[in-house]
Amino acid sequence: MSHEPRILITAGPTLEHLDPVRGIMNRSSGKMGLALAKACLSRGLPVLVLLGPVETQIHDEFQECCQIVRYETSAELERLLANFWPQHDLLFMAAAVSDLRPAKILNSKMPRSAVSIDLEPVPDLLASLAKHWPSHGIRIGFALEDSIHLVDRAKNKLKAKACHAMAANPLSTINAETVAGTWVTPEGEESFGNLTKSEYAALVLDRSLQLWAAQSG
Ligand code: CTP
Repeated sequence: MSHEPRILITAGPTLEHLDPVRGIMNRSSGKMGLALAKACLSRGLPVLVLLGPVETQIHDEFQECCQIVRYETSAELERLLANFWPQHDLLFMAAAVSDLRPAKILNSKMPRSAVSIDLEPVPDLLASLAKHWPSHGIRIGFALEDSIHLVDRAKNKLKAKACHAMAANPLSTINAETVAGTWVTPEGEESFGNLTKSEYAALVLDRSLQLWAAQSG
């Protein structure tokens, strides 16, 4: 008999420090992660959320409904995942992880002058979870893509990151009330049609629980 999955959600952007006051940050409100957390709670499934630097109102909404641990940088998120993933079964990797970060963090504030900044790639956190814990749990990735390339790119990311499914959303999802997402697995893809974010989150949770049930018997 399978037990109920212990759910881990990452949400929000990462902030990559450049000096004590500046950094590089992806755009991400954290709202998709919040919709997923609420969908889990409405089914009585406990959730731990690893939460990036989001606006206070979103942070407060998370805090009202679930347990949260905060991170700022991708390196902090990487450490938290290494710590918490082995004790969870289902991962929603909704965080918008920066692709690049400053190669060096300056100790004092950079003066205003023309400078070049060396950037280095951030390791792929989702892909490295698959490498370190290949047969552990169900890992769901999220991707925002141009509508025309949505399915192709999601399929490539599914393979590259060795996750069990990708929830692929068009770029128009940013700041919109509705989502026209596509669920991509190694078996094929399913278009969800135009849904509110909470309907969408409920459907993503449904499909993920099916994958968990199939894996855990
Ligand atoms: N992701 C990750 N580690 C990274 C970048 C992304 O774990 N360094 C995860 C995201 O949390 C998301 C999924 O991978 O679940 C897809 O994110 P996306 O930014 O679309 O992937 P990238 O590999 O960064 O691809 P792109 O070059 O299109 O930005």
